[in-house]
Amino acid sequence: MTHIAVIAGSNRSEAQSHRIGVLIAERLTGLGATSDLISLRDIDVPMWHESKRDKNPPADSPWVTVWRPVSERLKAADGVVVITPEWHGMVSPMLKNLLCCCEEGELAFKPGYIVAVSGGAGGAYPVSELRTSGYKNTYLHWLPDHLIIRNAGGFLPGSPDDKAPEFLEPRMMHGLKILTAYAEAAKKLRAEVVDLSILRNGM
Ligand SMILES: Cc1cc2nc3c(=O)[nH]c(=O)nc-3n(C[C@H](O)[C@H](O)[C@H](O)COP(=O)(O)O)c2cc1C
Repeated sequence: MTHIAVIAGSNRSEAQSHRIGVLIAERLTGLGATSDLISLRDIDVPMWHESKRDKNPPADSPWVTVWRPVSERLKAADGVVVITPEWHGMVSPMLKNLLCCCEEGELAFKPGYIVAVSGGAGGAYPVSELRTSGYKNTYLHWLPDHLIIRNAGGFLPGSPDDKAPEFLEPRMMHGLKILTAYAEAAKKLRAEVVDLSILRNGM
């Protein structure tokens, strides 16, 4: 079974990124994969700090109580959907922080499908930002295709109130199919070829 983590990168209580994350997790199940929604609306990942690298952290450290379970859930995934809101033309700081915290190969050589979410006509800047800076030490392998959901509040597939362009939902489903196929294929790559003891950090 292919297991996909869906990371929703907004901490807003009414986040469209979270709503779309729920939808995508359901669609992945419909495609025969299992999914795990990791929503930064619900999980307050601590800001990266040197204490993250303590060899013997106290049991009540947020690196133990909050980060470690997230890290294990990401390690269990074969691929990821990364849903980034566009905030001031950027990826949200909590999503960048999560990538910064992935220092144990959580995402290494796993395919990642970028889904950018904009309340207006934006969405391209965070895609560009993730493609430029989101992969070096995580070794997250961005798929060549990504999705931009503009006017996100109107993206209501299956509802009569849906205001999204007709092409958007089929394109999303095709992207998710490509992701699950890559995720299945990349299992062999990680098991038989990749050696993270050589590739400590990207160049
Ligand atoms: C702090 C902040 C900055 C934002 N800046 C932009 C922006 O630069 N461009 C844009 O298209 N939408 C912007 N938005 C609107 C979001 O794209 C919109 O809320 C969308 O639904 C994704 O964010 P969400 O997942 O938090 O809902 C911003 C929203 C917030 C909270």
